[in-house]
Amino acid sequence: MKFFVDTADVAEIKEAAKLGILDGVTTNPSLVAKTGRKYREVIEEICEICKGPISAEVLPVDYEGIMKEARVWAKVAPNVVVKIPLITEGLKAVVTCAEEGIKTNVTLCFNSIQALLAAKAGATYISPFVGRLDDIGHEGLDGIREIRQIYDNYGYETEILVASIRHPIHLRDAALCGADVATLPFDVFKKLVKHPLTDAGLAKFLEDAKKIPKGS
Ligand code: G3P
Repeated sequence: MKFFVDTADVAEIKEAAKLGILDGVTTNPSLVAKTGRKYREVIEEICEICKGPISAEVLPVDYEGIMKEARVWAKVAPNVVVKIPLITEGLKAVVTCAEEGIKTNVTLCFNSIQALLAAKAGATYISPFVGRLDDIGHEGLDGIREIRQIYDNYGYETEILVASIRHPIHLRDAALCGADVATLPFDVFKKLVKHPLTDAGLAKFLEDAKKIPKGS
C-alpha cells in the first residue's frame, strides 16, 4: 500500500519524508489557501522534496479551462498528477489527459458509480472521500469495497486513493479493502506508529536494562 500525505504545508511534508516511507503528496485548493502561498510555488517546492506523485488541482470547471490548466500543471514537474473534479466536464478532460499521457487524480468521488466512470475515462487515480461521507452518517468504507470489486471485475488499472481520512482506523479499513493508496493528514500520519503499550513496554525494558550487569 502506498502512503501519501494530504497537505500543502512543506514543513509537514519534509517531516513526513524523513520517515522514509512517504510515497507521494496530495493537495487541494483548501489546503493551499491555508498556507497563504501561491499554488504553483507550493507545488514546485513539494516536487523537490518528494519525487513520488504530487497532486495539483485544476480550478476551472469547463473542459477547455481544465485542459489548459492540466497542460500547464503537467509541465511543472514530471511527477505532477493533475487533480480533476468528478463532474461531466472533468471526465471529458480525463479522457483527453489519458490520450496525451497526462496523469490524473479524479477527486470528489462519493460513490462507486462515479468511480467506475473515472476508470472508464482513463483516470490514473480515483479519490473517494471516506471522512466526508462518515460525517453525514454514511459508511464511507462501503464505497471503497464496491470500487475494489468493480475495478477487479473489469481489470481497471485506476488506483484507488482513499482520501478524506480522519483517523488511523480509516487507514486500516482502507488497507483491508485493498485500496492502493491512502492519503493522510499529517496529524494522522504521525499517529500511525503510536500505541500506549509500545511506549509502556519500551520504558519497562529500558528500566530493566539498567539492572543487567555491565561487561561481556
Ligand atoms: O484532499 C482531498 C481530501 O483528502 C480532503 O479531506 O478532510 O477535507 O474531507 P477533508
